[in-house]
Amino acid sequence: MSKKLFIETLGCQMNTRDTEHIIAELSVHGNYTPTLNSSEADLIIINTCSVREKPVAKLFSELGQFNKIKKDGAKIGVCGCTASHLGGEIIKRAPYVDFVVGARNVSKISYAVENKGTIEIDINNDETSYEFSEYRSSNFKANINISLGCDKQCTFCIVPATRGDEISIPPEIILNEVRKSVNSGMKEIFLLGQNVNNYGKHFSNKESDKWTFTKLLQEISKVEGVERIRFTSPHPLHMDDEFIEEFTSNPKICKLIHVPLQSGSTKILKDMKRGYTKEWFLNRCEKIKSKIPNVRISTDIIVAFPGETEKDFLDTLDVVEQVKFDQIFNFKYSPRPNTPAATMEQIESEIGTRRLQTLIDLHKTHQDEHMKKNIGTVHKVYFEDLKPNGEIMGFSDNGLQVFVKGSEELLGKIINVEITHNSRTSLKGIIIE
Ligand code: SAH
Ligand code: F3S
Repeated sequence: MSKKLFIETLGCQMNTRDTEHIIAELSVHGNYTPTLNSSEADLIIINTCSVREKPVAKLFSELGQFNKIKKDGAKIGVCGCTASHLGGEIIKRAPYVDFVVGARNVSKISYAVENKGTIEIDINNDETSYEFSEYRSSNFKANINISLGCDKQCTFCIVPATRGDEISIPPEIILNEVRKSVNSGMKEIFLLGQNVNNYGKHFSNKESDKWTFTKLLQEISKVEGVERIRFTSPHPLHMDDEFIEEFTSNPKICKLIHVPLQSGSTKILKDMKRGYTKEWFLNRCEKIKSKIPNVRISTDIIVAFPGETEKDFLDTLDVVEQVKFDQIFNFKYSPRPNTPAATMEQIESEIGTRRLQTLIDLHKTHQDEHMKKNIGTVHKVYFEDLKPNGEIMGFSDNGLQVFVKGSEELLGKIINVEITHNSRTSLKGIIIE
């Protein structure tokens, strides 16, 4: 009889892919099938995030809850970045936890489940050539890792300490995954890495040395059956002209791009060790926009980084005003253990809260402006989800969420939709084939 696995995934898209790998490995090597009901599970896993303090604080209260409701004999495991970061301390604080498996040790999951007390958190572990078993949470788009870890040392960020140094996955493994995915009917490929446009800088196998992200994009777009390519996250520093040219001219690459700003102040960017200036960032966005009129740009912004003055914050608002981002993931700076910024002079919390609100309010005006412009336009929508209210949902090439009335037969199709209504975050329309 198969056993049941409940897994909760926090954090970024890399964690989403790690969760797919965990499910795949445990299905093949442990006979587990996923369940959405934690109280009937034989194994409960939290795949954690440690990028900000809040989710870490929540982990122990959540573990306590799971311990109360779990069925007799069920195991509990902690995976992901907080596992890498806290390691054995997790079992010390919550002794009912059976194992801890870090973000760089996913291939050890089956062993850990079978061996109580396992702590696998080596951030130098090289899984770039490990062949994970197959499991995908979507029938329509395939998440594919192209690199592990991150080589940057942004002074606010804990990721290099939880996911280790950057290593690129060999191109033949990536292309093989792409082929397998399209052969099973998927049209969209989502490439994942902390710093995707640095692809090719380090391989564990030197033979792949000539590869760049641009070349990888070109080769993937040649694979028959690939209709859409997305990726996250690129780094603004590595957005050279060659990359922008490929992004703008390759019709298979979707025209929504994440360009993580973090701050609009060149002084703060320097303190963050981001490696670019306000002017470089604006120039890159301008270049992309001038080549593709309907491009959409998303970003990440941190407010109240240590030492951020009102003037620095005005620089951030100025970039937001000039670029008019389509989507902003806003964060109030959260000090992370063992990162350089945690020991710099901190800003009062209320100032951060106020700046965050100012930014959110400004961004809302831009969102409203952008979304209204879609009325009457036609988008190619790739349908992927049937809603209980008879609507079917998909995304346009440039990442707009679109709902239409429709049924199951639209799933997996890319169809023209004329937009009739908008909200701040999504659109409604009618099919116009
Ligand atoms: N490699 C990715 C970043 C991963 S972390 C990139 O360059 O886009 C995701 C986002 O979390 C970051 O872009 C940053 O905006 C935010 N973040 C990271 N550390 C943070 C911290 N200490 N406090 C607040 N936000 C943080
Ligand atoms: Fe973090 Fe900077 Fe890398 S934000 S993940 S250290 S690019």
